[in-house]
Amino acid sequence: MSIVCVEDYEPLARERLPAAVWDYIEGGAGAELTLHANREAFDRISIRPRVLVDVSRCDTATTVLGSPLRSPVIVAPTAFHGQVHDDAEPATARGTAAAGSLFVVSTMSSRPLADIAAAAAGPLWFQLYLLRDRGVVVDMVTRADAAGFSGLVLTVDTPRLGRRLRDERNSYVVNAGASPANVRAGLPVSLHERQEGISGLAATARDIFDQTLTWADLAWLRELTDMPLLLKGIVTAPDAALAVEHGVDGIIVSNHGGRQLDGGIASLRALPDVVGAVAGRCPVLVDGGVRRGRDVFIALALGADAVLVGRPVLWGLAVGGADGVEHVLSMLTDDLEHTMALAGRPSVADIGRDAVD
Ligand SMILES: Cc1cc2nc3c(=O)[nH]c(=O)nc-3n(C[C@H](O)[C@H](O)[C@H](O)COP(=O)(O)O)c2cc1C
Repeated sequence: MSIVCVEDYEPLARERLPAAVWDYIEGGAGAELTLHANREAFDRISIRPRVLVDVSRCDTATTVLGSPLRSPVIVAPTAFHGQVHDDAEPATARGTAAAGSLFVVSTMSSRPLADIAAAAAGPLWFQLYLLRDRGVVVDMVTRADAAGFSGLVLTVDTPRLGRRLRDERNSYVVNAGASPANVRAGLPVSLHERQEGISGLAATARDIFDQTLTWADLAWLRELTDMPLLLKGIVTAPDAALAVEHGVDGIIVSNHGGRQLDGGIASLRALPDVVGAVAGRCPVLVDGGVRRGRDVFIALALGADAVLVGRPVLWGLAVGGADGVEHVLSMLTDDLEHTMALAGRPSVADIGRDAVD
């Protein structure tokens, strides 16, 4: 059977991956309310098409923080690509660049930042979890800088890991070949050693993540690098306003794909409030549940500058390596272009608030 849309990759990826890895990727926290709410929020919105507009040429291109992109679709940071494909993050980097997109590399990537950068012919940002061991943080950010990364994304919704019940039931651990290559010092054995009823990843996060992180720490990060700083995991207007006051260069509206606070607000529902509070002072991106061109269109109409996609990229990587990643991203771009044509909005700038209901 032909693959004709992003979601066609989902069952194919499931066939290829061990059950516990599949659960780790697909699952959310708790009862997975937020995981499902993310998708439902998109499905509840309707598009208001305009007609008799020349759509013979629809242009999906945009620029985010200086990076020209083929479309406003970016690869979200996801951990441990070595569990999904032997070529791991370098394959994701190749596929992302081939699709004209940007790859946000996770703190928990399975391969060294320099190797990922060597494989990438396109822009990269580095996603940071603030670890208690600031020496490791300095080392990672310095290496990202040296490798030419052009953005630093601090994830702020993960002082500890959400309770992912699938992982607890599976006593999920990360296999040694997929181990985080950039968190060099002090990885606890819990990441790899199975213990009944405990997710190894949650235990590891408990041991190494800095739960004392506050707004005051942003100044320290700023001193460390000239890379633009984005905060990932903002879902309220007051936090968006604080982020802008603290001089961040971008905001990513996200609930971590429903993997952190179960019952937390769907990202798309949070987007308009954040956009209102930011009032154009920095780019606003959003992720969580983006699977179709119409989803990208809706996010733009509600004020996002771009979207990020997480799980679908992993499905593509599992099934086809770099080619699978490229295919997933290209299908999203093509589907966005198609939606723009039928909605009578031939450029990204034409997708305003009046385009959706
Ligand atoms: C398997 C997996 C691993 C993830 N790892 C990270 C991570 O290391 N850092 C991070 O900031 N977000 C991480 N996320 C969250 C994603 O960046 C993103 O917010 C989310 O996947 C978007 O939702 P979507 O999967 O529905 O597109 C992860 C998500 C998944 C599915």
